[in-house]
Amino acid sequence: MSTVYLNGCFLPLEEARVPVMDRGFLFGDGVYEVIPVYDRRPFRLAEHLSRLQDSLDGIRLANPHGVAEWAALIERIVRDAEWEDVGVYLQVTRGPGPRDHAFPKEIRPTVFLMPLELPAPPAELVANGVAAITAEDTRWARCDIKATALLANVLLRQLSVDAGCAETLLIRDGWLMEGSASSVFLVKDGVILAPPKTRLILPGITYDVALELAAREGLPHRVRPLAEAELRAADEIWITSSTKEILAVARLDGQPVGDGRPGPLYRRMIALYQAYKHTVMRGNPGP
Ligand code: PDD
Repeated sequence: MSTVYLNGCFLPLEEARVPVMDRGFLFGDGVYEVIPVYDRRPFRLAEHLSRLQDSLDGIRLANPHGVAEWAALIERIVRDAEWEDVGVYLQVTRGPGPRDHAFPKEIRPTVFLMPLELPAPPAELVANGVAAITAEDTRWARCDIKATALLANVLLRQLSVDAGCAETLLIRDGWLMEGSASSVFLVKDGVILAPPKTRLILPGITYDVALELAAREGLPHRVRPLAEAELRAADEIWITSSTKEILAVARLDGQPVGDGRPGPLYRRMIALYQAYKHTVMRGNPGP
């Protein structure tokens, strides 16, 4: 049974309880992070905590903990976890209050952390890629906030589940944004292409790692708006996230991407990513 943290206490998951008047439950009024931990070492912790701060600022909720306190809470969750590799899920909501859209007068945020099992992406998916579909992006205009209010993402992801696919890629006004729970990259004519960080996408931590690795290795890469037509004409499509790492999209809307196999730049990038992950696991923070 997992040990979780809730408002000052470490306790078994089954015993953790949140009041029904919590604004996380009533309004989805909260933010979250998923921090990958390999071999009990958090990956890019500072970056995840910095994005958490940005999300809290975005919803005007004071951060209940400093960086060192967060790090200590995460360390304890990791230490007690039954797996060596975990995703630490952490969530902060605006806490309990009367059911009124306006913020309560007295804010008592709810802080919750739990470990999630984090299996490495199956070798078969890394070797062969996954299938994805496209859909119109029906989310709000602050997708840079990692909000627990994920209803649009949930409905969009379910479209791909219904189609037997791994992800839904989101198009807004003819522009490629990201996946329902992942960032997206294209490759065209040997150049890695990524959509810019705006308020309409989540600033992915894995996205940053992929771009840093591309820069370090001298792989041609550009960050610029990507049109839907470029998505459909891409030689390669990748999706990235803390839980998926980097996966190639081999089929999009039933059509093969390139020759229908993960392409050469994907194979290069996943090898770089896995090597980097292993250096971090050995205690080296770099690229
Ligand atoms: N999701 N975009 C969206 C909409 C996401 O939900 C995620 C991650 C990403 C990738 O971000 P990162 O590389 O920092 O994980 C992009 C997490 C894993 C989730 O909701 O479970």
